[in-house]
Amino acid sequence: MIKIANHCHYHKKYARELIERIKSYDSDEEFLIQIEDDSLALCCQIQNQKTCFSHSLTDPKLLKRASQKNQLLLKACNNKKREIHSIIDLTAGWGRDSFILATHGQHITMVEQNSLIFNSLNFLLKIVKHDNPDEVYKRLQLINDDSVEFLSTRDIGFADCLYLDPMFPAHKSSARPGKELQILQLLTNNLNVEELFEIALEKAKYRVVVKRPIHAKTLSDKKPDIVYKEKTIRFDVYLTNNF
Ligand SMILES: C[S@@+](CC[C@H](N)C(=O)[O-])C[C@H]1O[C@@H](n2cnc3c(N)ncnc32)[C@H](O)[C@@H]1O
Repeated sequence: MIKIANHCHYHKKYARELIERIKSYDSDEEFLIQIEDDSLALCCQIQNQKTCFSHSLTDPKLLKRASQKNQLLLKACNNKKREIHSIIDLTAGWGRDSFILATHGQHITMVEQNSLIFNSLNFLLKIVKHDNPDEVYKRLQLINDDSVEFLSTRDIGFADCLYLDPMFPAHKSSARPGKELQILQLLTNNLNVEELFEIALEKAKYRVVVKRPIHAKTLSDKKPDIVYKEKTIRFDVYLTNNF
């Protein structure tokens, strides 16, 4: 069940659209979604405590992070010849990784299977696209689908790079903030992540990139060709060369 609090004054049309789309969202948990002018907060009760996660594509912290040129996400998602121009983010989530990649010129198709997350991100994207003529946002496209379905049924040709950031297992040393992880775990799961990974390897032109917690095992126990390590996460890169 979902409860909605609408505090959006500037983009009433988009807020109404969002409400229409999520009002019958079916879930065992009770969620509260608070719609603000340029952000959303998603709240629920976890272990008798109100737990909220707030997200915005104009969050100064995200913009600062996105502006950094030397981050490993960018290295992982391109090659030395800079041949990678189009990326499909197969696990879009809140769209932050895609936004960072788009900031540095990549054209991103984001695929998200959960309708509440998809509609929330779609709302935030519409707002920033409306308010901001910046080309970055035009490079982001969002699709509501299961990525296994998407890759199996749509004629996408070969995308230069396929990107996966599956849900991190719940763990004390997780790089993801606790509240976000807890809410994501209630909303979604990764049942088909290895199946998705196997299809991605067949469909990527140059590479598949998988974001993992630093000590997690590799997907399908497959050894990556390149690994970029940060403190708490790593990017496993699989070179595909499918032409
Ligand atoms: C950890 S989040 C991704 C976070 C994202 N990288 C970001 O920067 O905000 C994982 C997301 O992948 C989605 N997901 C998992 N399996 C999927 C699938 N087969 N197709 C599409 N989305 C999927 C989940 O619903 C969840 O929203």
